Amino acid sequence: MKYHVNEKRAIGKRSPMLYGHFIEHFHRQIYDGIYDPGNKLSDEEGFRKDIIEAMKKIKVPVLRWPGGCFVSSYHWKDGVGENRQPFFDKAWRVEDPNTFGTDEYIHMCRKIGCEPYICTNAGTGTAEEMSDWVEYCNLKNEGKYAKWRIANGEEQPYNVKYWSIGNENYGNWEIGAKSSEEWWRLVKEAAKMIKHVSPIVQLSAAALPDIDWTMSLLKHCGAYLDWISLHGYWDMLPEKNELADYNQCMAYTEQVDRAVLDVKGLLTALHLEGKIKIAFDEWNLRSWHHPNVHTIEQGIDSKTYLVPRDKNDDNSSYTMADAVFTACFLNAMNRHCDIVGMANFAPILNTRGCIYSYKDGLVLRSTYHVFDLYVNRLGDIVLDGWEEGEKNTITVFDKNGNQITTDTLDILATQHSRTGKISISVVNKEAEKKQKVKICLNENQKGRYRIQKYQIAGKSVDSYNDIDKKDVFIEGFPEEETDGVYEAVLLPHSINVFDFERIR
Ligand code: AHR
Repeated sequence: MKYHVNEKRAIGKRSPMLYGHFIEHFHRQIYDGIYDPGNKLSDEEGFRKDIIEAMKKIKVPVLRWPGGCFVSSYHWKDGVGENRQPFFDKAWRVEDPNTFGTDEYIHMCRKIGCEPYICTNAGTGTAEEMSDWVEYCNLKNEGKYAKWRIANGEEQPYNVKYWSIGNENYGNWEIGAKSSEEWWRLVKEAAKMIKHVSPIVQLSAAALPDIDWTMSLLKHCGAYLDWISLHGYWDMLPEKNELADYNQCMAYTEQVDRAVLDVKGLLTALHLEGKIKIAFDEWNLRSWHHPNVHTIEQGIDSKTYLVPRDKNDDNSSYTMADAVFTACFLNAMNRHCDIVGMANFAPILNTRGCIYSYKDGLVLRSTYHVFDLYVNRLGDIVLDGWEEGEKNTITVFDKNGNQITTDTLDILATQHSRTGKISISVVNKEAEKKQKVKICLNENQKGRYRIQKYQIAGKSVDSYNDIDKKDVFIEGFPEEETDGVYEAVLLPHSINVFDFERIR
C-alpha cells in the first residue's frame, strides 16, 4: 500500500489542547498522588516535584479539575481559606480533607505550566455558587469573593479562562442528575451569571451524543456556550475489572470518533459548528474500576467498595493495547481538529492514568510515551493524505463477540508550522505481523529528505512498565535519507513517527 501526503492541503491547525488531561478527587490522584505534603519528593507546598516534571515533559496544556462525579456535590467555598473542614464526599463515599482546593489547584497548574479548566457543581450546586467561584478566581477586587481571594494571599486574579457547567448530569449515576429541560434551564442561568462576572470565560456544558439532551441544550443555550463537553470510555469496567484483551481493544478503535461525528452533526444542523467546539474532556480506553458506587446496594461495608479501587493501580493492566488505542484516538481527534478543540485523558495520574506514582517514585505507563511522542514530535498542521492500493485489515471480536473489521494501519500526516517539517504517525494495530507502507511525499521521487524514525512497540501486545520494569518506551533510530518515496517497515503493535526534513 502507498500513503500519499498532500503537503499543499491542510485539514486544519490542531489546538495544543488536544493533548490535555484531567485529574479528580478520586483514590490517589490528588491526595497521596500529586499532593503529598511530607513526602521527601514533594516541594514546600506539598506537590510531588517528580510528577510535576513528568507532566511538564509531555507539555500538559490544560488540566481539568476537580471532577468528574466528585464535583456534583462539591462546594468550592469549603476548600479555600484558613478554616478547611473535612467533608464526606458523597460521590466516592470517602472523607475529603479539603486541604486541596482552588488555590492549591491554581498553584499546581502554574508549576506544570498548564491552563486551569474548572468543572463546576451542577448537581447540588446553584448558578450563583458557580458564578461566585468565577468571582473568586477572575475578579480583581470587586465584591466579597475577589476580596476573599486577596485575603487568602492572592492579590491578582487567576484569570481562569476555561469553565464547564456540570459533569454528566444526564446520567442517573450522577448526584443531582437532571432532565434535559431542567438541564438547559440551569445551564442558561449559570451561563448568564458566569459571563456577567467575567468576559474572558470560555464556557462548556455537559453533553453527550443524545439528540434530545444535546439538541435542547444547544437550542436554548447555544448563544452562551463556546464548548460542548463529551466523555468516552470504551472498555467499561466500573463493577467488574475484567479488562478487554489486545484484539478486543483493537475493535474499539473503530468507534473512537462516533460521538464526535454525531455531535458535529447536531452543531451543524443548528449552524453552531463555527461557534462551538467539542471538548472531549474525559476519555480513556478503560473506564475506572469502582464497584458498588453507581449502585445503592445496602448492607455492604466500605471495604467492599473501597479496596477494589486499588486494582486500577495494577500497572500490568496498561499494555500496548492502551498505547495503540491512545494513538488511534489522538489520530482521530487530530483529523477532527476543525471541531474538536480539546481532549482530556482521564485521568493523568494513577487510577487509569499515564503516570503511576508511589512513595519513592514514578512509573511512566505505556500511554505516557504516546503523549511524549505526539506532543514532542508531531506537527500542529494536520495534512490531507490518502491510501493507494489495497488496504490491509484485521478482523477482531469485541467483548460481546461481535466481529469487527478494522484497517491494520492508522496514519496521520502533520506539518510543523514553524519549520515546514513533515511528521507522520503510523500505527500498526496488527498483534503479530509487521506491516509495510510506502510513504509518498513526491510520487515522482523528486527531492531528498532526511528521515528520523521514532517507535513505541514493546516486546509483545501485553508489554507494560512497572517499578523496576521498563518494556515500553520511545526508541529513536539513526537518521536515513530518501527521495520522495520511503518504504516504512512497522513492527506489530507499534506506534511510529517519521520526521521528514527536506534537504534539497
Ligand atoms: O469513573 C470515573 C468517572 O467517570 C468520572 O468521575 C465521571 O466523570 C465519569 O463517569
